[in-house]
Amino acid sequence: MDNVTILDHPLLQHKISMLRDKNTGTNEFRKLVSEIAMLEAFEALSDLPTEDIEIETPIEKCMTPVIAGRKMAVIPILRAGLGMVDGILTLVPTAKVGHIGLYRDPDTHEPQEYYCKLPSPIEERTILVVDPMLATGGSGSDALRMIKEHGGNKIKFMCIIAAPEGLERLHNDHPDVQIYVGHLDRQLNENAYICPGLGDAGDRIFGTK
Ligand code: PRP
Ligand code: URA
Repeated sequence: MDNVTILDHPLLQHKISMLRDKNTGTNEFRKLVSEIAMLEAFEALSDLPTEDIEIETPIEKCMTPVIAGRKMAVIPILRAGLGMVDGILTLVPTAKVGHIGLYRDPDTHEPQEYYCKLPSPIEERTILVVDPMLATGGSGSDALRMIKEHGGNKIKFMCIIAAPEGLERLHNDHPDVQIYVGHLDRQLNENAYICPGLGDAGDRIFGTK
């Protein structure tokens, strides 16, 4: 799967391990999600095009690179994706933020759509879709479909933990999308939760349940 990058930096893996711990409380969990998102985005955005501009340093004038071209949009899948936005905006403060609301039906595990508000026009932006968990891949795949229906065409998807089943689904449904994964876990259980995973990401970020 040449459009999939599994990120293996030791600092990232350390933080993901802390996140998994059931004794990690809401405050710490939120902080870790934000830091992990920033570290992942640093890698996922490593191909952003640059252009040289002239700057005068205290010593002399020089041509030096800045980010060029397309503007960015970060699109979290609600709710849990919200936890990743701040970390990415630390790196790219000028990015616009769209929102896609999806929840998994507890019985069928199928995503149910309840909200969609995207920056317009979306066509001209590099889009980073974020959700901590890629389980069956239903939510991620639907979110990408919705963005494409609105005209999005340069899209990256970033998650913290993926199950093999979800990664395969997303790759098959959207072979044109670059996928970045913090850690690839073993499998889904009978409730379509990722094993070993970290439990319910939304509940852990927002302290619900
Ligand atoms: C979680 C998670 C993903 C989805 C992944 O959201 O944040 O969006 O499940 O599962 P899938 O790959 O099988 O679709 P959830 O539906 O629990 O909603 P929440 O973020 O509002 O808690
Ligand atoms: N959603 C979560 O938050 N966790 C999982 O393991 C699967 C879906």
